[in-house]
Amino acid sequence: MKRWLTFLLTFSLLHFPLLHSFSSSLPRGIVMVDVSRHFMPLSFLYRQVDELARYGIPALHLHLTDAAGWRMEIRKYPELTDQGAWRTAPLWQDWWNDGQRRYADKATGYGGYYTQDELRHLVRYAAGLGVSIIPEIEFPGHSEEVTAALPWLSCTGEAYTSADFCIGNDSTYMFMEDVLREVCDIFPSPFIHLGGDEAGGIHWRTCPRCRGMKQSDAMLRLNAIVRRLGRTMICWDEVYTGGLRDTSVAIMVWRSPDTAREALSSGHQVIYCPARYCYLDKYQDAPSTQPRAMGGYLPLDSLYCHLISEDVPPASLALCLWTEYVPTEEDAERMLWPRALALAEALKPEPRSSKAFRRWAERETRKLRARGVHAFDLDHETGQRTAYTSRARHLARGARVTYKTPFHSLYPAAGAASLTDGWQGGWANTDGRWQGFLGAMDLTIDLAKPKRLRSIDMTFLQSRGVEIYLPSRFTVSVSNDLQTWTPLTDQPHASDPRPDVLHTFRWQSPGPGTPSPGPVRYIRIEARPDALGGWLFADEVVVH
Ligand code: ACM
Repeated sequence: MKRWLTFLLTFSLLHFPLLHSFSSSLPRGIVMVDVSRHFMPLSFLYRQVDELARYGIPALHLHLTDAAGWRMEIRKYPELTDQGAWRTAPLWQDWWNDGQRRYADKATGYGGYYTQDELRHLVRYAAGLGVSIIPEIEFPGHSEEVTAALPWLSCTGEAYTSADFCIGNDSTYMFMEDVLREVCDIFPSPFIHLGGDEAGGIHWRTCPRCRGMKQSDAMLRLNAIVRRLGRTMICWDEVYTGGLRDTSVAIMVWRSPDTAREALSSGHQVIYCPARYCYLDKYQDAPSTQPRAMGGYLPLDSLYCHLISEDVPPASLALCLWTEYVPTEEDAERMLWPRALALAEALKPEPRSSKAFRRWAERETRKLRARGVHAFDLDHETGQRTAYTSRARHLARGARVTYKTPFHSLYPAAGAASLTDGWQGGWANTDGRWQGFLGAMDLTIDLAKPKRLRSIDMTFLQSRGVEIYLPSRFTVSVSNDLQTWTPLTDQPHASDPRPDVLHTFRWQSPGPGTPSPGPVRYIRIEARPDALGGWLFADEVVVH
């Protein structure tokens, strides 16, 4: 290309975003990092840019603001970082669970923020490597840090009373325009993410300014500002399912994959990142071998298989690293790599087969680690729970189960057949093999004819982050007529502090103090919830 033409193009892209933004396509692959829940140092961001560039991933999305901390200097509103960037505890979970969720100042608080000069430099550096940085400023929910620092932006006008902006107040939009002017000044990205997820809107119902307004009305008003600034707005999918139909807004789908297809067919640009498949805050390996994660299980191979499957619509693809349980840059790198390699490969016109990808990823992971990136060590992966990988044979397989307390419709697993179908659960409560009970569990298994028993095993899953706990008591009794019951075992179980763990309750005969029943037809199993309440999750009653 002629030098003057290159100059003209570069000049117009840098200085006249209007010329390019509306016709821009989303980057095909995006890695999102939440730097609000835990602030990550700049050096970490530079390293991620280097690695994204190396593997051809074209965009880094920074979730810059959320309740846990506002991370970008805004010159017009220094309160946002003077106060909103610092909190009273270094670890998100301590801060979030302490019931107070207070902010602090730099001298006494924990956190941090990026200055505009630092961000400008990072953006230029990334652009030089072909990586664009998409900033996200949350609106109108997830904004406790804003309404604490600038209470006039909330419906109540008081700090620490609202997670949401007042969406009926003109001042809110003036504030957002001021902020977005500074954001657009630093980030040339044609796309600016404005959040839109999980807004509670509790005060909107009673606030005289907001009454009758919906979140999508607020996002439309914001979209007008973003368009005036020459950019395209991205929102989380609540904004689309909540009724926004302006196709100039790009939709980032984190909940149902069906929404991605619908939004695409109604003409939106779409980023596909359903939490189930694309959120990297899950365990990458057996929970007992890993630092605490959000729960769930997303090993590299499953991630890759999904990304190259036909289930994925023709949208941009993103992997999202939320950092509630990711306190350090080392942790963040371990959660990101080698998983981001799956995205890099899936973006290629002809991605490798799963097996070839695995071999390539193992080689690349060694290189990443040799370069000092704290990638998860694939060479020492434990892998899925062994019981998950084959169907168990046992005396109760296929037996009918009657439930005195029903399983919950949200977690039916395979329905009434689930606890005796031979299929056991894996490391994730969402893998479709775990049946969930809200409160107590009480069920009876009919073996069809009396059988002599040697053992009964039942495994429960605990995932504290989503309020699934091990039972506080496990009781088994047997009968031949459903009238007279012989107790076999009654086991109290102390609360287990580990966040994610499986525990198998067992009755065995003959064993110390365990009676040996004659042949029996019915087995009744009761499990009591933990003192905290919550869920019980079980996968199979294995009888020998
Ligand atoms: C989200 O996970 N709330 C986008």
